[in-house]
Amino acid sequence: MTLKAFSAECQARVEAALAHWLPSAEEAPARLHEAMRYASLDGGKRVRPLLVYAAGGALGADQAALDGPACAVEFIHAYSLVHDDLPAMDDDDLRRGKPTCHKAFDEATAILAGDALQTLAFEVLANDAAMLTDPTRRLRMVAELALASGSGGMAGGQAIDIAAEGRHLGLDELAHMHRLKTGALIRASVRLGALSAPAYTEAHGALLDEYAACIGLAFQIRDDILDVEADTATLGKTQGSDQARNKPTYTSLLGLTGAKDKLREVHTAALASLDGFDTAADPLRWLADYIVERGN
Ligand code: IPE
Ligand code: IPE
Ligand code: MG
Ligand code: MG
Ligand code: MG
Repeated sequence: MTLKAFSAECQARVEAALAHWLPSAEEAPARLHEAMRYASLDGGKRVRPLLVYAAGGALGADQAALDGPACAVEFIHAYSLVHDDLPAMDDDDLRRGKPTCHKAFDEATAILAGDALQTLAFEVLANDAAMLTDPTRRLRMVAELALASGSGGMAGGQAIDIAAEGRHLGLDELAHMHRLKTGALIRASVRLGALSAPAYTEAHGALLDEYAACIGLAFQIRDDILDVEADTATLGKTQGSDQARNKPTYTSLLGLTGAKDKLREVHTAALASLDGFDTAADPLRWLADYIVERGN
């Protein structure tokens, strides 16, 4: 198998599962449901779901048991993007090649769609019958996702990001912000996949945490580089948005070359963390490569 075949298969699985869990646009309140579907279906690279499938697959998890966790992390991610784009935050007009949710609908609907996508993530983890039945594991997944999304994770990272606009951050502070804002959900994606495998042990968990820490940082460094280097059409979001808002980023701190050097360093460390895994972990290796090379 190749990254392309693996991604296509997993993307099709998660798309169907997302559509299954989302409320119908015909059901009231229709405008809210339409906005939830608009923000989460038919778009995005689905990197977090791919990590769920890859980490679960590395430990021999059943594919059907991974659909729920894959949906849950993507619903949290979609919610975070809707709120990230709001005028009170990054104030962006374009997302995944379409008008942002508050532009296509209105601000109140976008806020509520984000809220409802967030709770839908936890509804899936609580109710999905195809997931691993062990209640301890399921509860742990709920806790992992909650911690990764809250003030010690994504929401906390977003708070630091907003407070840092126009300010200088040191390299350690920047890495800390990235770990929370982007890294926490990426780590949760890997963990939820791994926890879905009956064969999971804490030793696996520690090795995969190291992998996830590296690719989580790599993901946001690449995002910072793309904000400088890519074009809006390829990105599907407005290029130069960070600079326009005076965001501290890896490129603003280290320059493009310095950011690229850092990216290479964390990529090597990500691959090294998988040395103890056999070929079942190849999708995790391909995803590490993809995350540092991606063009959007
Ligand atoms: C964008 O995430 C926001 C960051 C955390 C950098 P993605 O680059 O994964 O966005 P989609 O899901 O592909 O649109
Ligand atoms: C957003 O980071 C991260 C989250 C939504 C948690 P960015 O603000 O850099 O993401 P983009 O560049 O708008 O996708
Ligand atoms: Mg932001
Ligand atoms: Mg943004
Ligand atoms: Mg960005």
